[in-house]
Amino acid sequence: MKKIQPRTRGWIMIIGTIAVIGLIFTSCAENAQIAAKSGAQLWAENCQRCHNTPSPAAFSHEQWKTVGLHMQTRAQLTDKERDKIIAFLSQ
Ligand code: HEC
Repeated sequence: MKKIQPRTRGWIMIIGTIAVIGLIFTSCAENAQIAAKSGAQLWAENCQRCHNTPSPAAFSHEQWKTVGLHMQTRAQLTDKERDKIIAFLSQ
């Protein structure tokens, strides 16, 4: 196998570092996108994919908390998204 030159290794390190920093920035951009969405928006986008959207009045706050935990796994939501949706549904 050919030995990697120290100079080449230096470039690999630099390019790798830039790639990692880039990834960190894009994931932050996604988080900012989620942060900008309201509970109502997240609810409308996520909770009618599999069934009709249940009315916020259908359950109490305590019940929504339980439903939220259950549906969080089904809808693959982050904790933040789930909390926003529950806050919206419990108004
Ligand atoms: C991936 C599909 C899927 C998504 C997305 C989803 N649900 Fe569900 N939901 C189900 C299934 C399946 C059931 C049936 C109960 C179960 O999970 O065993 C259900 C049941 C429910 C029930 C109980 C209905 C009843 O009358 O007893 C509520 C309330 C509910 N979902 C709310 C939500 C909310 C709020 C969201 C958004 C955060 C959501 N669901 C997103 C699949 C989904």
